[in-house]
Amino acid sequence: MILDPRQSVAGMGHRLPTSWTHVHSEHPTRIQLPRTALSVQPITLWPDHLPHARPLLSDKPSDIVYALVSSTGMRGNLFAALSTDPSYDRVLLHQHDNQHTSTMVTADTQAALAALTATYTSTLSFYLNAQRVSLEVPDPTITLLEYIRSTGLTGTKLGCAEGGCGACTVLVQSWEDGKVVSKSVNACIAPLISVDGKHVVTVEGIGNSTAPHPVQERIAKMHGSQCGFCTPGIVMSLYALLQQNPEPTEAEVEECWDGNLCRCTGYRPILDAGKTFATGCGRAGGCCRDQKKEDAHANGNGNGDSTTVKNGEVDGDGLLDGEIDFTSKPKKVPTTAPSPCGKTNCCRTTPSNPKQPPPSTPTFAPYEPSKDLAFPAKLKSFTPSALAFGTPTRRWLRPTTLDELLKIKAICPSAKIVGGSSEVQIETKFKGVNFAVSVYTGDIPELRTVEFTEDGLVIGANITLSSLEGVLDEACEHFAEKGSAPYRALLKTLRGFAGRQIRNVATPAGNIATASPISDLNPVLMATGSKVVMESVNGGTSECYIRDFFKGYRSTALEPEAVITKLVIPASKGGEWVQSYKQAKRKDDDIAIVNAGMRVRLGGGYVVEEIDLCYGGMAPTTVASKKTMAFLKGKVWGEKDVLEGAMKSLEEDFNLPFGVPGGMPIYRKSLAFSFFFKFWSEVTTTMTGTASEDDDLPHAEITRNISAGWRDEEIPNDGNNAIVGKPLPHVAALKQVTGEAQYIDDLPRFSNELYGCLVLSTKAHAKIVRVDTDAALDMSGVAGYVDHTDLPSPEANWWGAPRCDEVFFAVDEVFCAGQPIGFILADTKAHAQAAARAVVVEYEELPAIFTMEEAIAQDSFFAHYRFIKRDGDDMDGAFAKADHVFEGVARMGGQEHFYLETNAAMAVWKPEDGEMDVYSSTQNPTETQTYAAKVTGVPANRVVCKVKRMGGGFGGKETRSVQLSSICAIAAKKMKRPVRCMLDRDEDMATSGQRHPFLSRWKVGVNNDGKLVALDADVFCNGGWTQDLSGAIVERALSHIDNVYYIPHVNVRGRVCKTNIHSNTAFRGFGGPQGMFICESYMSEIADQLNMSVDKLREINFYKEGQKTHFNQVLEDFHVPQIYEQIKVEADYDERRKAVDEFNKTHRWRKRGLALIPTKFGISFTALFLNQAGALVHIYHDGSILLAHGGTEMGQGLHTKMCMVAAEELGVTLENVHISETATNTVANTSSTAASASSDLNGMAIKNACDQINERLKPYREKLGPDATMKQLATAAYFDRVNLSANGFYKTPTIGYEWGNENSKPMFFYFTQGAAIAEVEIDTLTGDWKCERADVKMDIGRTINQAIDYGQIEGAFVQGMGLFTMEESLWLRHNGNLFTKGPGAYKIPGFRDVPVSFNLSMLKGVPWKNLRTIQRSKGVGEPPLFMGSAVFFAMRDAIKSARKDAGNTGLLALHSPATPERIRLACTDEITERAHVNAKEKEHNWFIQP
Ligand SMILES: Cc1cc2nc3c(=O)[nH]c(=O)nc-3n(C[C@H](O)[C@H](O)[C@H](O)COP(=O)(O)OP(=O)(O)OC[C@H]3O[C@@H](n4cnc5c(N)ncnc54)[C@H](O)[C@@H]3O)c2cc1C
Ligand code: FES
Ligand code: FES
Repeated sequence: MILDPRQSVAGMGHRLPTSWTHVHSEHPTRIQLPRTALSVQPITLWPDHLPHARPLLSDKPSDIVYALVSSTGMRGNLFAALSTDPSYDRVLLHQHDNQHTSTMVTADTQAALAALTATYTSTLSFYLNAQRVSLEVPDPTITLLEYIRSTGLTGTKLGCAEGGCGACTVLVQSWEDGKVVSKSVNACIAPLISVDGKHVVTVEGIGNSTAPHPVQERIAKMHGSQCGFCTPGIVMSLYALLQQNPEPTEAEVEECWDGNLCRCTGYRPILDAGKTFATGCGRAGGCCRDQKKEDAHANGNGNGDSTTVKNGEVDGDGLLDGEIDFTSKPKKVPTTAPSPCGKTNCCRTTPSNPKQPPPSTPTFAPYEPSKDLAFPAKLKSFTPSALAFGTPTRRWLRPTTLDELLKIKAICPSAKIVGGSSEVQIETKFKGVNFAVSVYTGDIPELRTVEFTEDGLVIGANITLSSLEGVLDEACEHFAEKGSAPYRALLKTLRGFAGRQIRNVATPAGNIATASPISDLNPVLMATGSKVVMESVNGGTSECYIRDFFKGYRSTALEPEAVITKLVIPASKGGEWVQSYKQAKRKDDDIAIVNAGMRVRLGGGYVVEEIDLCYGGMAPTTVASKKTMAFLKGKVWGEKDVLEGAMKSLEEDFNLPFGVPGGMPIYRKSLAFSFFFKFWSEVTTTMTGTASEDDDLPHAEITRNISAGWRDEEIPNDGNNAIVGKPLPHVAALKQVTGEAQYIDDLPRFSNELYGCLVLSTKAHAKIVRVDTDAALDMSGVAGYVDHTDLPSPEANWWGAPRCDEVFFAVDEVFCAGQPIGFILADTKAHAQAAARAVVVEYEELPAIFTMEEAIAQDSFFAHYRFIKRDGDDMDGAFAKADHVFEGVARMGGQEHFYLETNAAMAVWKPEDGEMDVYSSTQNPTETQTYAAKVTGVPANRVVCKVKRMGGGFGGKETRSVQLSSICAIAAKKMKRPVRCMLDRDEDMATSGQRHPFLSRWKVGVNNDGKLVALDADVFCNGGWTQDLSGAIVERALSHIDNVYYIPHVNVRGRVCKTNIHSNTAFRGFGGPQGMFICESYMSEIADQLNMSVDKLREINFYKEGQKTHFNQVLEDFHVPQIYEQIKVEADYDERRKAVDEFNKTHRWRKRGLALIPTKFGISFTALFLNQAGALVHIYHDGSILLAHGGTEMGQGLHTKMCMVAAEELGVTLENVHISETATNTVANTSSTAASASSDLNGMAIKNACDQINERLKPYREKLGPDATMKQLATAAYFDRVNLSANGFYKTPTIGYEWGNENSKPMFFYFTQGAAIAEVEIDTLTGDWKCERADVKMDIGRTINQAIDYGQIEGAFVQGMGLFTMEESLWLRHNGNLFTKGPGAYKIPGFRDVPVSFNLSMLKGVPWKNLRTIQRSKGVGEPPLFMGSAVFFAMRDAIKSARKDAGNTGLLALHSPATPERIRLACTDEITERAHVNAKEKEHNWFIQP
């Protein structure tokens, strides 16, 4: 049935189904349905019907191709361009069983392929940790990661499955041209076939906790592992670097981690540990050490397979670049952290703050490369032979010659070529494409050649990008200054391309063939006049300029049966400039928002002879700005009116509409114009030689030095303790760095275990019309389906604390995309996921609310309402008396927790008495137990919840983990089998909730002298579809809206917006950071309007000791003024303020900013009953101690601190004390591990238990003397029948705030306090930025473990910096689904985002007269998070200067996060004016910011 193009699918009587298969072909001729297909309905669609449509893969009519139109599965903003692409006006749709896309191969083709590959072998063989593996029947569906983990080597983790987090990093070694080549690889995207004939090394292969590898030992001892989930990947990235280059520079060490993420540590300690292996810093400008290494690795690309190959030959010293010469003597490394150069003033060990001493480092074993796991000798003689294995629907081929490859393609044009698989695996995993035939090309030598011709460089199309980096380095030398401009531009592009692990496998052909509109290589290749060479059996060899290669969104001139074999990149001629640009949300490992490649050739009189200005991110394909190029040709470069004319032409070239797919129309246009302006500037200044390096040049880009930092190691402690206060490593650190530490998904499998996969709503608000599971239940391996009908009663479906307002499974209506509807159970994860996709859900859509503004307008709130106002306070009178009254709006976005371990649970059903064990990655064992009992209809005493550790929590597993664990419990009971599920990253992000976005409309009265008089504010947060903890979170925001300032009259009111997004939840800080952000926003805006320095305004209004907060709590031990003064002096604040102002006076295009932000954070749960804890201490008669307490370990070092407390109290060594797990059958009725109070609460409970035991041991201590060991004491007491077990308990005294009763008890037990200074530099043309330096000083009392507490401060600061600068959750307007569902689209800070200089200290020398906590320590988990906002406010400072230069005197209301987009658009200038786009009536931004 062909529909009228303008008639929507809804015109067929129903709405566009959730998933469709579409076939793209100008003239689709035949359609063959998969077995389970329901119907075929060819229709013609207009683009707006199908915003998600993928390019289709059809080639020959004989190869039938299906492609699922996934509503949410696209990465980045790649797909966004599609709906503007006219080539998509005819799309054939076919609704089927919800299975993902399949490329189908006809029986004839299969037979022909079988004949062609009859001589191919089907046995895959490789080495895994030096053990030979031979797979006779390899599973064609699994990745390298899945294989490794299936063997029981669970050290290699799954963090994202999209190559974006590095948790799965392994080393892959191969023997090439007589040498070992070592590279770090993301096992999650590596096809198993890619390791044939290679050596795979996992974290288990290099060491164990008794004999760790030096990389493992140093990361553990230097506190580089907190939750440990990222750690194996981080270890392997560095190990891979050392295999390739045992003497790396510091720059190379930093760079080896550009594809790894850690959410806990803030990276500093990992960097420190890594740098103990470095031989020099490699910093721009030169290390004080010999420059030899820098010359060899001028571009910081020493890691990876940077083979120095010319014409297929290895040259040089007979060793590949960076390869280890095993015959050489081992390098001697000192046993303490060396000054890399031996100089006393080495630039590495000289602290960035010259007032401070260099950091101390622990003792560790020397690194001797010769002791590393040897490359298996047998692989040196391995000759790859052609491989073929798999099933008719999933077949892998690995030809070893180009000829074989071309023959395969001739027979089966739809055979998918797989180079590095960094695109293909994303399509397979997230876009659900199932390629019937895949051909791995990584072992075809003809596709990896390198040739230097007279005219330029010719490279094999499937050379890896890491190798290409090395080749381009050589090309720069070979073609010298005159000819190397294209290669320099490409090198710059590659440095910002993905992470190291991706560059180690990804290939240029993969990038070009993908034809992504934001490909990084294509704009430069297009601008440089590069060509692709294509070959096929029937078509022979042909060439095509890149500029002619792209035909439409992700479609190219490549014939289906052809292969890209080579890439020709011409050298430049005289008078030519080439440059590349890229702006992304994050500097490392991020896809571009806009990128560009530009080339100009000037003749006499600077007349433009040739010009290419090519852009990505501005259209459905990489495009040339044709009008601008035409305008510039023949014009004189450098003349002002020519620049003006070019800018006008660019406006015509890129006339993006407001609602442009991918969003950011004004920013994208600004970037396009700014990039050209930069190019213009660079060419103009260099052609005339008029500028020096120091000049303020528009084209100067932000660069960063090697990271450095300092921790004040003097302990704020009285020194009387034997253990407490020492900077001891995390007790599980060695297990974490060696991969021995187990998380839920690492637990051994039960033989009858089932794996679950959630069926999630794809609609934001809809009635459920029909759920059809028939097809899913028919699928291979599927055992069952669970939904709301499987609960003991309808009431049991309800959960949530404190309000029981959420259902585990939707009943007849869904309220957000990502809400669970059902749970499919199967024998494997893959089967469960495939079946979950096959569940058909029909919806009838209902109106949805997403943003706080929409909720306010529609009065959509939860009933919870709180206010703080002193009785009888005359607010009107106060405002009337104030000299000024200012009003404003503060707004900040939410934040994804991005714990590296996603939510995971396993419920083990037991045949007796309704018993069940629930293993969960949860911060809240008791709530997990309570709801598992409720949903299985038993009392709590039948259920045990056990938590060994979590791979991060940050509040995200305080309540939301209960959803998955309870669903597993329901399923386990129904199936009478163990049920496990670890959510994929995208599922976790879609369903589990985030930090709340906040909005406040404030009014502040202030006097001329800067004294605050009154604050009135409405505070709203976006709670999502259920209340969860939103009420308590908005309460904490209200109580922190004063930050550290005394305001005599306050009236603040808090509401929770009810919307159709996932239910937002606790996140480190719990509303506190949002409240303080509102405060510092109004402080900044008031200061600007009073024309007063914000520092002065702050100082004038600081609380004084003994003053009362607006919720009537007397401030005791208030140290903010001391902290503030100390940090100012220590960090040279005043001098640096002057220097920043001076810099800004002389610089227009780069601006610096500085901010000093104080904080106070109230410690206690605001729900009184939660302020209690229990502990259980057993002393066995051998003297060993088993400790249990109610807190859970999520990386924050709680167990380490608690073991230290017990050891100190009982007078034993730390090794004597062991914590096995947190379990509800050892300590009952626990509070969640949250609110920064767990050390206080559990530490006191432990002390209470230890006190009891000490009392009982007293007679034995007296009898056996002070030197008696615990073994002697325990043995003696045991034989005297003394109870050596004690149950401890603690409840926080004095607190008990009652909302609405200003005379009630204090809200908080005490306040943790601090201050931070941040200095930033921004590029006013692009919004690019760096944090040059940050200093943080915290008052955390007398620290229990200084190293762990510093780890918390660093981690929280960097997490806070992410919150306020780069982390942005976006929803798609057209379907209400979360867009930012993985590391590809959601950016947390990486290794090179941390402050270049990062210095920490603790407040010392104060008495803490009123502090009555365990060891007089203070909670530290949450309070430093707000310190990250100093970076935001420093940016604000810098932006103000840019606006001033541009004559913009308007008040700056900067919302958080300050993304590059916000920074650039706040730096208003002529370019942003030109780029301005007005929304047409009813036109909306592509994304929603809730
Ligand atoms: C975490 C991550 C980060 C990324 N970052 C970036 C980035 O910063 N910039 C960027 O531009 N891209 C980025 N990408 C995308 C991707 O890495 C690149 O496009 C890469 O170059 C693809 O190369 P590949 O060899 O892995 O391609 P593959 O996935 O193997 O193949 C991609 C496509 O190319 C085809 N193909 C491969 N070789 C040939 C050949 N010889 N002839 C014909 N067709 C061929 C395949 O059939 C397939 O259609 C990123 C991807 C990931 C997963
Ligand atoms: S799991 Fe492989 S990179 Fe994240
Ligand atoms: S230690 Fe890195 S993510 Fe937890």
